[in-house]
Amino acid sequence: MVNTSLPFIAGNWKMNGLKVPAMELVTALGAALTNQPKECEVAIFPPATLLISLMNICKQYGIQLGGQDCSSEEKGAFTGDISAAMLKDAGCNYVILGHSERRCLHLETSTTIRDKAAAAHRAGLVTIICVGETQEQREKGQALAVIHQQLVESIPLSAIYENSIIAYEPVWAIGTGKTPTLEEIRDTHHFIADNALKQFEKPFRILYGGSVKAANAKDLLLVPQVGGLLVGGASLEKGEFLGIIEAARSSSSPRRRGSIR
Ligand code: PGA
Repeated sequence: MVNTSLPFIAGNWKMNGLKVPAMELVTALGAALTNQPKECEVAIFPPATLLISLMNICKQYGIQLGGQDCSSEEKGAFTGDISAAMLKDAGCNYVILGHSERRCLHLETSTTIRDKAAAAHRAGLVTIICVGETQEQREKGQALAVIHQQLVESIPLSAIYENSIIAYEPVWAIGTGKTPTLEEIRDTHHFIADNALKQFEKPFRILYGGSVKAANAKDLLLVPQVGGLLVGGASLEKGEFLGIIEAARSSSSPRRRGSIR
């Protein structure tokens, strides 16, 4: 089941992957992880079309499976949408919600994301709710205000430590090769942790995402309150993703894992 105490390494495949190469990639990842001590939780988030094909391979190797989005509705006339129960049925324990590509390209609002998260919790999924500022908001000094509002509006009342993870993903860092400084990440994660405690009286695990690579993973994971990493492009490359998992293994200590319990 879901382990809440280990560093969490999540691979968001976005709209990438066809069945045969995807099965080969996950089999190779699983084989490389076999007989290694389980010092971090690994999850992949492939496109919905691949979930059923990857379900058994993931189960065999102890890799968690998640969806990239879900509907706030349980069922019915919602062409193109996928419910949280359908993700669960396809072997998922997790779902990413409010990724900036959904917020920006599909105009998803924080309140939509909150309703989706509540539906995901009802179906027994752990949500990874993404927050983060754009380049323009950062330049105008609005980053923390934007994140604050996203936290207040996107996290449903059903959220607790065990079913909710927050991912800090500065939009300008996604797929660009740029990252905030480690001090900036420390301060923002501290801000998120503080706000979550104030608003919900609950702690949450917090991941960092945006241009994570094998080369920077260890430094990122050593930042206090970084409880894991949400990885995009590098999760599609076996060597890179394994390098990130290796960094998570070698970085772990309770204080560093981002748990503020
Ligand atoms: P990236 O994407 O690692 O390719 O920057 C991260 C994400 O979008 O979750």
